[in-house]
Amino acid sequence: MTKRKGIILAGGAGTRLFPITMGLSKQLLPVYDKPMIYYPLSVLMLTGIREIAIITTPQDQDQFRRLLGEGGQWGLSFTYIAQPSPDGLAQAYLLAEEFLNGAPSAMVLGDNIFFGHDLPRRLAEADAQPRGGTVFGYRVADPERYGVVDFGPDGTPRAIVEKPEVAPSPYAVTGLYFLDGTAPERARGVRPSARGELEITTLLEMYLAEGLLSVQQMGRGYAWLDTGTHGSLLDAGNFVRTLSERQGQQVGSPEEIAFAKGWITPEELAERARMFAKNSYGAYLERLLQGKH
Ligand code: DAU
Repeated sequence: MTKRKGIILAGGAGTRLFPITMGLSKQLLPVYDKPMIYYPLSVLMLTGIREIAIITTPQDQDQFRRLLGEGGQWGLSFTYIAQPSPDGLAQAYLLAEEFLNGAPSAMVLGDNIFFGHDLPRRLAEADAQPRGGTVFGYRVADPERYGVVDFGPDGTPRAIVEKPEVAPSPYAVTGLYFLDGTAPERARGVRPSARGELEITTLLEMYLAEGLLSVQQMGRGYAWLDTGTHGSLLDAGNFVRTLSERQGQQVGSPEEIAFAKGWITPEELAERARMFAKNSYGAYLERLLQGKH
């Protein structure tokens, strides 16, 4: 199988977080001690993905470049793609078609935060599927706000409904999509929904109709955090703070993952540690270097 490539979808108008996002992209906002995009980036890195397209609005692209560069500092390679207007999640596959060049992909929304001790294994399982797609269902108290899985009597998924008035189940589809190399071609067949967007759920339903979509449950031992409102953004930051301060370990550190995977040398990690010498993130990277963590 061709090596899976990554997509981080980090566009959108961010209107729900106005006025904060009037001058700054949502996915660059802090979630405690790191920019939001570090967390979904870490998920792709934990999957073992090194070639990643970052899709942003045209006007925000420079800021993302300033923060993330070309990716070499983490042994990665970034390709920047502009999405002129937020026409829907499925459009990402059209915009990234050339970048993907037939490869399977893992797309993560730039504002989705995942945490769970078994996450790398779950990601590896999804990555190992050569054909079709894998998405994750996560139980939430307010499924109406998301794409929701409708299960048949035998427990197999039979539909995915975008923001239903009455949710057929409490299982939301998270913003992490493992799809095979046919995604761009299929995305060309997605027609705009009533709200005028190329819906990811329409694309997923195409896979589902052919029996090619696996819906994996992410149980209560995982955290899938929302950053969609001012309150949930603050909660996500507090969650990261609580965990990292209690454990003395970072959540979503690209340096740590790159070093653990052997994608960067000790010298390269040391260089990063020096950049952050004035704060606890730098001290953490220094400890990693000494093997004390
Ligand atoms: O978070 C998971 C949910 O994400 C799924 O359960 C839904 O099926 C899916 O449609 C999506 O729902 P949202 O209503 O949360 O999507 P939203 O429009 O907020 O967009 C999600 C992120 O993607 C957001 O950070 C902005 C970005 N985005 C969105 C659109 C529509 C883009 O970069 N480009 C776009 O065209």
